[in-house]
Amino acid sequence: MNGMLKVKMASNVVPLRAPAPVEPQPTIPARATRYPDLRYMGSKSRLLPWIFETLNTIDFDSVLDPFSGTGCVGYLFKSMDRRIVASDFMNFSSLVARATIANNKVHLDGKAIRQLIDGTPPAHNFIEKNFNGVFYKQEDLKFLDRVSGNIRQLQDPYEQALAFAALFRSCLKRQPRGVFTISGDLSHYDDGRRDLRLSIEEHFLEQIEVYNAAVFDNGRKNRALRSDIFQLPNERVDLVYLDPPYVPRSDDNCYTKRYHFLEGLSCYWQGLPIDENTKVKKIAKRYTPFSYRREAVEAFDRMFARFSRSKIALSYSSNGFPDLQQLVELMGKHKKTVAVFEKPHRYHFGTHNNVQRASVTEYLIVGQ
Ligand SMILES: C[S@@+](CC[C@H](N)C(=O)[O-])C[C@H]1O[C@@H](n2cnc3c(N)ncnc32)[C@H](O)[C@@H]1O
Repeated sequence: MNGMLKVKMASNVVPLRAPAPVEPQPTIPARATRYPDLRYMGSKSRLLPWIFETLNTIDFDSVLDPFSGTGCVGYLFKSMDRRIVASDFMNFSSLVARATIANNKVHLDGKAIRQLIDGTPPAHNFIEKNFNGVFYKQEDLKFLDRVSGNIRQLQDPYEQALAFAALFRSCLKRQPRGVFTISGDLSHYDDGRRDLRLSIEEHFLEQIEVYNAAVFDNGRKNRALRSDIFQLPNERVDLVYLDPPYVPRSDDNCYTKRYHFLEGLSCYWQGLPIDENTKVKKIAKRYTPFSYRREAVEAFDRMFARFSRSKIALSYSSNGFPDLQQLVELMGKHKKTVAVFEKPHRYHFGTHNNVQRASVTEYLIVGQ
């Protein structure tokens, strides 16, 4: 059928609209399709074929992804056999990148899994004490306290990172909308989904297998860092892929607000005091200039200046501030040529009744 849609119709029927020709979808390397997708605000997972098709035309061997988020774009680069440095200022993101991008070889074997689910009562009950009645059932909270202690008994940092990644994905699956802004009795979100029936421990055992299957060696020394973009060590790479947060319009775009529970879990809330005045027991918001209208333009300029010796690919969207023209001008101050690639896109965030949709044009702004 050559990707073309064929529709049979009776001869007396006048079609209202000719069926649109189906564009052949670009495909990503098979290894990249194994990535355990996380429901995450601003994730580019559904745009990967287009990002692949566009960036594959650029000559680069090493790449920095300093707003790595779920890690799906970094993992795509790894699948393209590039040397990748992934970084994010959230600790939980950086652990996921360590498990899947930096880690070329380590898997969680039977011994490690038995250690992880060991039933010895935990030394600490911070999670049960603080989150009872806020998120999850009591048995899930007890498990989280237990597994948090057990993860720290693993010696290998990649084993630890894999266990954390499996745990984060389990927590996201078990949380009805995949965010930690809603709490208490969430039974009205229960649409019978399997994800909401399984305990976190059951999810965790499944997710270990999922992350084990995502580990592969691309023959390169890939790295995962945790850093603010402006504090990153100066290291020369061929390409910098930039996917910063957008200045919020009505709703705000704060990553800590939505994912504070995972960030706390990633370090057992060490050094992250809970704000007891908040219903969902948030931690303090992490400052980023990209969230503020009065600071964003200067932050983009500073960021482009900082990476001006590398090729730059910026993921952006028509609903962002500053607008496309201003960004192209800003990038033009630091790069000889600036090209814009675009694709219509529909963001889905949340699930079922609560889905928030936005039709936008996605841009890749490439400076060389
Ligand atoms: C749009 S998301 C990236 C999504 C990612 N490309 C993906 O597909 O999953 C933006 C990310 O930037 C991180 N971030 C925001 N400000 C930052 C800063 N100043 N330095 C480093 N990371 C930052 C957030 O934690 C968030 O994970």
